[in-house]
Amino acid sequence: MSETKPPTILLLDSGVGGLTVFREVKAALPGADYIYIADDAGFPYGDKPEDVLIARIVDVVGAAIAAHTPDLVVIACNTASTVALARLRGTFSVPFVGTVPAIKPACAQSKARRIAVLGTKATVSLEYTHALIREFSAGCAVDLVGSSHLAAYAEAELADTPVTDDAILAAIAPCFVDAGGRRTDTVVLACTHYPLLTSRYRKIAPWPADWLDPAPAIARRVVDLLRNRDMPETATTPPRMIFTSGRTPPPRLAAALHGFGF
Ligand code: DGL
Repeated sequence: MSETKPPTILLLDSGVGGLTVFREVKAALPGADYIYIADDAGFPYGDKPEDVLIARIVDVVGAAIAAHTPDLVVIACNTASTVALARLRGTFSVPFVGTVPAIKPACAQSKARRIAVLGTKATVSLEYTHALIREFSAGCAVDLVGSSHLAAYAEAELADTPVTDDAILAAIAPCFVDAGGRRTDTVVLACTHYPLLTSRYRKIAPWPADWLDPAPAIARRVVDLLRNRDMPETATTPPRMIFTSGRTPPPRLAAALHGFGF
């Protein structure tokens, strides 16, 4: 009996944030082979200039494609996707799935007609995001909130060295706007690191809001693109995680990564 080789899915983020995407994709397609590249040598992406980011991401993705010949690449990072997805698609022939701010679904679901987009400084300032707002906000008020710290707080949370509630509150507070009879009811998590802190946001937010994680939609897109591929029902090889710094994760982070299947 001939065995079909499962497709290889490569995921990239600047750190552990893309694991929030990986867990959804893996749950949807448990039989695929997975390589997760954490470009921690380039962390954080969110504070770097556009040209520096594009050059770095094209280099890192190019090296990963050459080394692992994936069937599909998931850019599990909003910053990298908004800044470099077009360039990646123009450079490499493998299909890409990106992670871009979920502005359309957020505006569609907001009853108050006011949402916030919480992302890195780069993501909220890029034209790509502004174009999404022009195209899809449909009269909904959109407050853009950029954070230089929240991705690092999420890294700390996963490494079991959590930061204080006050630090997290300072980062999310500008999302909560009550003006003109509209009070923010939906926050788009426009950085893949941020869903790692959702239970903490819920505890400390000034009022309840929906925290929108785009990962399930990304997983559906991956399933759709690979729908014609034969795949075993369970994994034939364990997922692999590669840190571009070459570091070995310290024990508490290693334990958390183990929880994700690594
Ligand atoms: N996870 C990345 C994102 O989705 C950002 C983290 C960073 O600044 O490197 O935007």
